[in-house]
Amino acid sequence: MAMAFPHGYYPRMGRDRDALNKELPPGTWKRVLRFATPYRAHLLVFLVLVVADSLIGVITPVLAGRVVNDITGRAAVHAVVYIAVLIAALAVVDAALSFAQRWYSARIGEGLIFDMRTRVFTHVQRMPLAFFTRTQTGALVSRLNNDVLGAQQAFTSTLSGVVSNVVSLVLTAAVMFTLSWQITAISLVMLPLFVIPARRIGSRLQQITRESYNLNASMNATMTERFNVAGALLVKLFGRPGEEAESFRSRAARVRDIGVTSAMYGRLFFVALTLVASLAQALVYGLGGYYAITGRLSAGTVVTLALLLSRLYGPLTALSNARVDVMSALVSFDRVFEVLDLRPMIADAPDAFELPESARAVDFDDVRFTYPSASEVSLASLEDVAVLDATPPQEVLHGVSFRAGPGEMVALVGPSGAGKTTISQLLPRIYDVRSGAVRVGGHDVRSVAQQSLHDRIGVVTQDAHMFHDTIRNNLRYARPDASERAILDAVEAAQIGDLVRSLPDGLDTVVGERGYRLSGGEKARLAIARLLLKQPQIVVLDEATAHLDSESEAAVQDALARALAGRTSIVIAHRLSTVLGADKIVVLDAGRIVEIGTHAQLLTRDGLYAELYRTQFERQAAGAAPLTS
Ligand SMILES: Nc1ncnc2c1ncn2[C@@H]1O[C@H](COP(=O)(O)OP(=O)(O)OP(=O)(O)O)[C@@H](O)[C@H]1O
Ligand SMILES: [Mg+2]
Repeated sequence: MAMAFPHGYYPRMGRDRDALNKELPPGTWKRVLRFATPYRAHLLVFLVLVVADSLIGVITPVLAGRVVNDITGRAAVHAVVYIAVLIAALAVVDAALSFAQRWYSARIGEGLIFDMRTRVFTHVQRMPLAFFTRTQTGALVSRLNNDVLGAQQAFTSTLSGVVSNVVSLVLTAAVMFTLSWQITAISLVMLPLFVIPARRIGSRLQQITRESYNLNASMNATMTERFNVAGALLVKLFGRPGEEAESFRSRAARVRDIGVTSAMYGRLFFVALTLVASLAQALVYGLGGYYAITGRLSAGTVVTLALLLSRLYGPLTALSNARVDVMSALVSFDRVFEVLDLRPMIADAPDAFELPESARAVDFDDVRFTYPSASEVSLASLEDVAVLDATPPQEVLHGVSFRAGPGEMVALVGPSGAGKTTISQLLPRIYDVRSGAVRVGGHDVRSVAQQSLHDRIGVVTQDAHMFHDTIRNNLRYARPDASERAILDAVEAAQIGDLVRSLPDGLDTVVGERGYRLSGGEKARLAIARLLLKQPQIVVLDEATAHLDSESEAAVQDALARALAGRTSIVIAHRLSTVLGADKIVVLDAGRIVEIGTHAQLLTRDGLYAELYRTQFERQAAGAAPLTS
């Protein structure tokens, strides 16, 4: 038996009945419509096509009935041929319509995905670092993928589904009623036989589907955590592969069982629908046949009724779920809006100006700083927690003031957790101060355009990250228009030329995530090469605490000397040679500056620096490997 399968006929996976209970913020509809505005012409044509398609779907059975009547009534041959040709023409038009309809729905759907994806991506990039320290990458990626897809379905499947189903249903029911209200009424009475159990199966299916989604998500999280190099190393070192495998196994087994159950439920749904439709069809033939023989109906009408019947159940079932579909789509939109609504804490002021190239002095003026609280920067749903952590964060810098004059090198030293890295992040505005100010060349960093600030300041972080890309491209990230000559010069100056030459692919060697593994010292020098290429006026450097052998230590030191020459620099120092070479040493403890001076001055003071020197730096003087702070 030929059956029409309109949209939403089959219970769609992942459709969430909970969506109905979710409070949507007012105005969600309006925003959704605003997203659709660029596509309104396309949408209009699309809907006209959908209606035309539904019309043809009803006309054809009526014509088929006419043919049967013409045959049984022994009408002129040309009349039958005429209708047959008409049916054929309609079929061709319908095929063309279906193509056009798909083209429009694809244009609208893919266009919306494109709009939302690019908006979310651009927006997320502008979020402060604090946002990324809190959110789960997986949750964020799924926002960009799944929710964006869910949202666009509102416009294609759900919208066209609802429109075409309503039109089909109204037309079909109307035509059937005019042909025989008794038969139509009886066929409709049979419908609850199917719809009621179908709804129950549907909600059970959603329950287990949601469970399997969660299990899958947790398996994914386990895999990404355990299968990266650091995680794999930890599992090996602690010798726990057996337990890891067992916990993975139990979740995978549940997913398997759910898969089987949901396949059976799905089939049950399908079989029940087919069965009820077939029974109703038998009824139409039986009752209609009786009417036809007793002369109350024509044979053609019975055929038309039987054909139309198959178009009645599908739309009805689909529409009984339409509310859930529309709400799920809206919830997806809402989840996308939620991300778009996060205001980037650190943005250019409206009257931001370019930081002049001459700006070289750095001033910290009574800087107080507290890391942002969860509610300031993130969303519970992206952290995978029910409510955000509400404990107010502690202040980590309590009034820090110091100055690095033009071309000066300032070394920051202090015990672990003193706030050194935090200070280094306030200068390039990774975070903003809570009170006081950070000034470059006398300009508050919050008043200048971030782009110009980042152009003037070069930062080398402790674990200099490299993208999974060639050495050349990693270096070019600092200056995309760098010439080959400039790249080679930077590589030489950073004392990494020998290494690059020894690699079979030279500058084209892929490094980073899954590429060639650089040693700690090599990575540090590559990061310095990247900095040299950028040629910033001001340098911020978090020295690696990793132990280096004396040869690479010397190489890094040499590279550093070139990188810092003539530039204003703030260096978080872990090496004796760095503190010795500094113009000024700022000693921090628990978020406060406790001493400022040169190496010689501070040693005579015999305070915290002298103590740090004895525990941390003196051994380096004796030639041993540097200690971590
Ligand atoms: N992202 C963050 N959110 C909240 N608190 C933070 C964050 N990063 C650091 N802190 C806290 O701020 C304080 C200063 O940390 P910071 O990283 O600046 O120390 P540090 O001097 O660089 O230490 P180390 O020498 O170990 O690198 C610490 O108490 C730390 O726990
Ligand atoms: Mg640090």
